Amino acid sequence: MSKRVLIADDEKNMRWVLGESLTQAGYEIVEAADGKEALAAIKEAAPDLMVLDHKMPRPDGMEVLRKLRAEGHTFPVIMLTAHGNVATAVEAMKAGATEYVTKPFDLEELKLAIEKAIRIGDLSAEVERLRAEIDRDWDVDGIVAADQRMVEVLSTVEKVAPTNATVIIYGESGTGKELIARALHRLSPRGERPFVEVHAGALPETLLESELFGFEKGAFTGALTAKPGRFELANGGTLFLDEVGDITLSVQVKLLRVLQERRFERLGGTRSIEVDVRVIAATNKDLQRMIAEGTFREDLFYRLNVVPITLPPLRKRAGDIPLLMAHFLEKHQAGRKTFTPEATRMLVEYAWPGNIRELENTIERIVILAPGDEVGVADLPAEVRTGAVHVAANTTFVLPEGGCDIEEVEMELIRQALDRSGGNVAKAAKLTGLTPRTLEARMQRFGM
Ligand SMILES: Nc1ncnc2c1ncn2[C@@H]1O[C@H](COP(=O)(O)OP(=O)(O)OP(=O)(O)O)[C@@H](O)[C@H]1O
Ligand SMILES: [Mg+2]
Repeated sequence: MSKRVLIADDEKNMRWVLGESLTQAGYEIVEAADGKEALAAIKEAAPDLMVLDHKMPRPDGMEVLRKLRAEGHTFPVIMLTAHGNVATAVEAMKAGATEYVTKPFDLEELKLAIEKAIRIGDLSAEVERLRAEIDRDWDVDGIVAADQRMVEVLSTVEKVAPTNATVIIYGESGTGKELIARALHRLSPRGERPFVEVHAGALPETLLESELFGFEKGAFTGALTAKPGRFELANGGTLFLDEVGDITLSVQVKLLRVLQERRFERLGGTRSIEVDVRVIAATNKDLQRMIAEGTFREDLFYRLNVVPITLPPLRKRAGDIPLLMAHFLEKHQAGRKTFTPEATRMLVEYAWPGNIRELENTIERIVILAPGDEVGVADLPAEVRTGAVHVAANTTFVLPEGGCDIEEVEMELIRQALDRSGGNVAKAAKLTGLTPRTLEARMQRFGM
């Protein structure tokens, strides 16, 4: 598609000469005879580039330039300035001109400047586009995600964050529940107000109760002064109820009441306290099952389960692993380190029982301990090296402990398979998932 060039110059002759030669060079031309016409043409014609005469009436070129940049137009502008007027040229560049050409000029010189400016303009548009894409695919507030389910999670986060809806986040340990809870808070109108956490699992029942609701002086032995609870501290902001599945039935009742009435009393108090708090809960427990077992209240579940968000375990979004690896290398200032393909494959195939937290710790350890810029299999922790075989072979063999290498593990697996099959190679091959021929070749190689 041909590029559209806007020529703004009050000299008709100049517009004509320029217009003709640029048309011949394959550009589409729009003309403007003064500043006002130029500004109108920018709106109507959306040019890809502008050749702008500095000396022009109503308003002059410099003013047009300032105005169009202030309005956010990013297309390249080549300013035509009078010969010898360096001050104007400098001013034009400061005001956002891409290039200046002094009059009288050589047509070839101007054409070259136009070509160059358009190429640069295309490049910076491409960079902007890529940056926007990276922002979208990779990063909502430091959260790395490319897996389709995670991208959907992030789009839910963006949608519900600005509301006051109660959100509950489900996911195994280390899947990023707290990270998502913080993102929900930061992306909400409450973002500047407090984000208060309560780790229900870490506290015994009575302590949890006083932490949540606070107490008045003399409420119990040792309550020498009154103390506000987390609900009060979170007023205007967000309360993050972590491990909500660990809350006992009696505290569940009290929690339900606050969620229903948005009011409560401190322990030992009668004054009713009203709060404006958005609640985000998280758990790694199966609440439905707890309801069936009678350990979690169904009515509380429905109060919390308004917008459920489920974070898949890392092994179910292995596609995110290379991105997370790069992210954590960057975070721990080792952006230049790379992994060999084999090491990458093992990290991707490992089951990551501790999910993203475990991956981050692993990368951090490698950054500290692996000497070179290239990280190989030998630099990986034992559980990753052995676990990779475990997943790949998809068997239930017992893996040897400790820092053994892949071949040792393979040998051990073959030994166990042969044990179980009573030395029958065909049966052992079935157990290992290898063809009998491959198994025999491996046995020969290991001298078995
Ligand atoms: N998608 C992600 N992108 C980048 N970092 C992540 C992502 N998910 C988790 N992390 C990081 O992994 C670590 C563990 O996450 P987080 O503490 O949120 O998990 P959690 O589900 O709350 O774990 P637990 O149940 O053990 O409390 C944190 O350091 C967090 O920043
Ligand atoms: Mg957590």
